[in-house]
Amino acid sequence: AKKPAGVPEAAPKPIGQVGVVGAGLMASQLALVFAQHLQVPVVLTDIEQQRVDKGLSYIEQQVSKQVDKGRMTAEQGQALTGLISGSTDKSVYAEADFVIEAVFEEISVKKQVFAELEEIISPEAILATNTSSLSVTEMAADLKHPERVIGFHFFNPVAVMPLVEIARTPQTAQTPIATAFDLAATLRKTPVLTKDSTAFVVNRVLLRMMAEIQKAFDDGTDAAVADEALKPLGLPMSPFDLLAMVGIPVAQHVTESLRSSFGERFYVSKNLQALIDAGVTKIWSTDDSGNKYIS
Ligand code: CAA
Repeated sequence: AKKPAGVPEAAPKPIGQVGVVGAGLMASQLALVFAQHLQVPVVLTDIEQQRVDKGLSYIEQQVSKQVDKGRMTAEQGQALTGLISGSTDKSVYAEADFVIEAVFEEISVKKQVFAELEEIISPEAILATNTSSLSVTEMAADLKHPERVIGFHFFNPVAVMPLVEIARTPQTAQTPIATAFDLAATLRKTPVLTKDSTAFVVNRVLLRMMAEIQKAFDDGTDAAVADEALKPLGLPMSPFDLLAMVGIPVAQHVTESLRSSFGERFYVSKNLQALIDAGVTKIWSTDDSGNKYIS
């Protein structure tokens, strides 16, 4: 097979255990794909046991779906969930070779997580971030070993989206890059090596489109009409359905990051912000005739 561009000659690090920081939607999906394709123990943590339990139960549901679809036997499903354990104590990462964080998309939170991890993980372990919009370089800046930090950005839903963006900072060493490429291949993803620049490549483009659609929404365009009108473009998912899947608060937060890096062309919707402020979590409502609308 053709080697993807940018793979260094360095040998990838063998991965015997993976750590996932966070137990939210992205983190839980990451834990599952790592366990499924690497067949190694995966440890996941969050700050509260309730969140850990929620993540683990999401994983169990996803595995049951695969069993129900006949993709694996019940025994294989059990063996898979058996590889994944959860904790509120980060010391579980002591044995991990590769730790990826998928915590709240806030630079101070991510820096704090990396600083804590550095005290726990082995000197050779690789630290990865699933950030979609923050600076990996800044995340690594105050660490003793910034050379082991790499961006490893997946897309939602992780199980089916084929791409991972591998983001290298000016300080990232060759081994983490080679390991990230090797891991991507094992996870059956298509890796691309990007510069550490806000939102890498995909979200920079995707969010620009989403910003324009949100601006049209604020200008009075009906969301369901916009989705319908854009269908012939052949997008895999209509824009407002995508927003509903990603979650409006996450989407707004990422757009704000892009706005602070790139300015006005990333538009933060006032109408969607009003929904967040009103505590609305479900984007679509349905009227008596079954038509979808955003209230
Ligand atoms: N979680 C897990 N699996 C899911 C899923 C989900 N939320 N949604 C769909 N799937 C699975 C289905 O179970 C199905 O799997 P099987 O083949 O094993 O049965 C498979 O995906 C295909 O699903 P469907 O046939 O129902 O649907 P589809 O053909 O419409 O494809 C899709 C679904 C792949 C999600 C497609 O709609 C798509 O590509 N949407 C765009 C997604 C996208 O743009 N993601 C990026 C978002 S930005 C981001 O990730 C966050 C960020 O960085 C800020």
